[in-house]
Amino acid sequence: MQSLVFTLSPGLELCKVIERMAPEGGVFTLCDSNTASLVYPLMTQDCPYLNNNTLIVTPAGDENKTLAHLSHIWEELQRLGATRHSLLINMGGGMVTDMGGFAAATFKRGMRCVNVPTTLLGAVDASIGGKTGINFGELKNEIGVFAEAESVIISPIYFNTLRKEEFLSGYAEMLKHGLLQSSESIHSLLAKDATRLDNQEMLELLRNNISVKQKIVEQDPTERGLRKALNLGHTFGHAFESWHLKSGSPVPHGYAVAWGLVCALILSHMHLKFDATLLRDVAKYVERNYGAPQLRCSHYNELVDLMRHDKKNVNATHIQFTLLKAPGKPETGHEAKEDDIKITLDLMRDLMHV
Ligand code: GLY
Repeated sequence: MQSLVFTLSPGLELCKVIERMAPEGGVFTLCDSNTASLVYPLMTQDCPYLNNNTLIVTPAGDENKTLAHLSHIWEELQRLGATRHSLLINMGGGMVTDMGGFAAATFKRGMRCVNVPTTLLGAVDASIGGKTGINFGELKNEIGVFAEAESVIISPIYFNTLRKEEFLSGYAEMLKHGLLQSSESIHSLLAKDATRLDNQEMLELLRNNISVKQKIVEQDPTERGLRKALNLGHTFGHAFESWHLKSGSPVPHGYAVAWGLVCALILSHMHLKFDATLLRDVAKYVERNYGAPQLRCSHYNELVDLMRHDKKNVNATHIQFTLLKAPGKPETGHEAKEDDIKITLDLMRDLMHV
């Protein structure tokens, strides 16, 4: 099982983790170009096992999560003399932990890795649970494997370097976990001004919030059933994200997820009687913090088409959703007809004043 370390001193904790793992083949670190200059130098002060001669740097940005850059990581590991008994530290956002996790899982048939997520989105989602991979043929996360990092060092101390949108993007995944956990949990998240929490408060919040994902992943690591609950909001969310990308105005992943959560709750209200008051509260919070997608009826067919082709769908005729009967009570694999999806989009626009 993946061990999670919550700390305000990530360098010192990383040091202890490396000592415990005692890798015989040396320690290598993967950073993106931002974390290489902003985070890595700080970590080296507390963790002498990190060595500039074994630092591998890859360009920042999800568009660089490609076979060419993965190949560069393999080449560097080979050039620097890494073995199957080495350890790779993936230090960065989701792009680094996804691609570095895949590089580690495949290099010499697999070496161990530790994730040090430096973004909120990475800490609450990408670095946990072993989904690794790269984009391929214009499709996101098309090639990859399930391979958990041995350990994940979670610390909010880097989050003050994030732009507000980047931070809110991660908070949307926390709202998702709150909805999957309990009524108390989602109400408490909605009541917070997330951008004003101090590090200690954030650390406690992360500990509770990440436990939601961790418990689900423990029961269903390869997404045969229960793990699909973590897709709450993502069928609509991915469609919004792709639609924005295609129209030349990309939005952060978490913004699309936040809008997708509102849609999933509307559909949950229609099909499973999810509480209307909580739905309105979530919609109000999302509109205030994330705005709303500027949709018109003329866009609906394109969005439905994007949902049909979401790779999480079992087939292209039935569009599947994770819905909620109530907070903490997800139902996966719920099919909805095209008309209901369009009604949902109408209601989302009403609720969010689009
Ligand atoms: N991001 C959803 C999952 O890890 O399953």
